[in-house]
Amino acid sequence: MEKNSNSSDFQHIGNTLLRWYKNNARDLPFRKTTDPYKIWICEIVFQQTRINQGLNHYNNFIKRFPDVKTLAEADEDEVLLHWKGLGYYSRAINIHKAAKQIMTDYQGVFPSEYEGILKLKGVGKYTAAAVSSICFNGKMPAVDGNFYRVLSRFFADDFDISNSRAFNYFSELATLIMPEKVGDFNQAMMDLGSEICKPKNPLCGECPVDTDCIAFSLDKISSFPVKTKKVKAENLQLTYYFVHRNGEFLIQQRKDDFIWKKLFEFLPEISEELQSFIKGVKNINHKLTHKNLSIEIFDVEVTSTSVWEALKDSNQYLISDFENFHEKSFPKPLENYIQNSLKD
Ligand code: ADE
Repeated sequence: MEKNSNSSDFQHIGNTLLRWYKNNARDLPFRKTTDPYKIWICEIVFQQTRINQGLNHYNNFIKRFPDVKTLAEADEDEVLLHWKGLGYYSRAINIHKAAKQIMTDYQGVFPSEYEGILKLKGVGKYTAAAVSSICFNGKMPAVDGNFYRVLSRFFADDFDISNSRAFNYFSELATLIMPEKVGDFNQAMMDLGSEICKPKNPLCGECPVDTDCIAFSLDKISSFPVKTKKVKAENLQLTYYFVHRNGEFLIQQRKDDFIWKKLFEFLPEISEELQSFIKGVKNINHKLTHKNLSIEIFDVEVTSTSVWEALKDSNQYLISDFENFHEKSFPKPLENYIQNSLKD
């Protein structure tokens, strides 16, 4: 788009988004605080992990490490242990290092400026913008894939999002519609991008700014964003617990349509009690179209009859067994895992 327009031409859009956000913001635990430590952790956690998948882990992490000092003073092993299930362990290692950095370089006080936040280990422009705007009234847009998608549709802008200059380009575009309250605006864009202006099947009928959206008015939503380079496969980490006893194991059916909809899977989470039965872990790499999965499967052999009976009685899980697991559909890597377990 020709950017000869005055930013004030578009300012009402940001304000409309803020009004929408006020009434429609997702009820997320980290929205109830402006503690920069918690917002920082949440931004790192939810950068690569879906909210539904990571929320319990986030809450547990914050419970154990409620502030910078507690985190900085913890052993790395313990930090890693509490990161279990969130994957990408380098993020946990960086978080731990950054906490120490805050203790030594900032006397334990979280830096309040964008530039200072950006200096923390593992913090990029998106995270620095998100934390500074949400917690300190900073004025940088937190540009991520949601921004690319929403803005390119909104302005019917065909700037290639795989271009290395895309971040700067869309940051500038964002400032055209950005209101004073940048923290809320950033979070409104995140919610709009993930709930309404979705990559596939966007819910334009529910969009608060549909009347201003140029791609929508041209009936060309599916033409944006433009991406010329072949999509780089996304790296994804999944964790499963193979909870079993005497040839039976616990499974559940997938509900979300992210991947493997309706297939059966092992448990993505287990209670602390069950964690004491973990015997080992296997890491499996598996490729899907546009996704490189890294799957860690913990072997949980329940050696206590009473615990196993209680699990079965709870009616919370489905039970499968080695004899007839073929009667249900499992994703390929999980099916292979069951087959290999049979040989052991
Ligand atoms: N994903 C990452 N950070 C988020 C936030 N602050 N709100 C909603 N989704 C997010």
